[in-house]
Amino acid sequence: MRMRRLKWAHDFLEQQPHLIKEPETMKGKWKQLLNKETLHVEIGCGKGDYWVQMGKRYSESGWIGIEKNESAAALAMRNYVNQGEESHMRFIYGDAATITEWFAPKEVDVIHLNFSDPWPKTRNHKRRLSHAGFLTKYKQILNSEGQIIMKTDNSDLFEFSLLQFQNEGFCLADVSVDFRRAIHEEDVITEYERRFMEKGQPIYRAVFQLRQQGSLD
Ligand SMILES: C[S@@+](CC[C@H](N)C(=O)[O-])C[C@H]1O[C@@H](n2cnc3c(N)ncnc32)[C@H](O)[C@@H]1O
Repeated sequence: MRMRRLKWAHDFLEQQPHLIKEPETMKGKWKQLLNKETLHVEIGCGKGDYWVQMGKRYSESGWIGIEKNESAAALAMRNYVNQGEESHMRFIYGDAATITEWFAPKEVDVIHLNFSDPWPKTRNHKRRLSHAGFLTKYKQILNSEGQIIMKTDNSDLFEFSLLQFQNEGFCLADVSVDFRRAIHEEDVITEYERRFMEKGQPIYRAVFQLRQQGSLD
């Protein structure tokens, strides 16, 4: 669903101290900045419900939200500011295609991909946030025990992603094809997730972990 362009978004984002305007200058220093030993990054956080609420709930870690759409980024930042800014949270308005310029090798502990755009046409698959092109970048910035947690309503994207992750050397640490069948209070429901749940659609979720060198699988 295309988002309406918000005229106030640009100026509002310019004024936000917790929006990191030159994220490349923080490469290798995020944990120091946030004063935390573990770092979670949500890519494509939309209006920021998950990033804000998970960041507040799990404040023992640092939380970075990334969003490339200016209007969505402004709504996420407004949501964040309204709920009270936190010293362990920051935001990047930008395209995750350049994520390796923002984070140093092994700097990130967990990457969250929530309801990423499905890009159904084959010629657009490379834009999927779980395409091999992105996974090779995530592998560089994830620490060796790091995880990528993905949720989607889209079975085609889910099947595609399982293969992409496997081909890029990840193993499946956890999987569900109906995650919300059970109550999961530990995990915040995103804006898109709520919409799909209201329509009665199952939520697919997988946790991927890098396969250790020398493992047998
Ligand atoms: C379908 S929305 C889901 C939003 C939110 N995660 C949720 O679950 O409600 C996907 C979001 O990912 C963002 N996105 C897509 N590709 C991106 C990229 N390469 N870098 C940063 N954000 C991206 C889009 O702009 C959009 O806001």
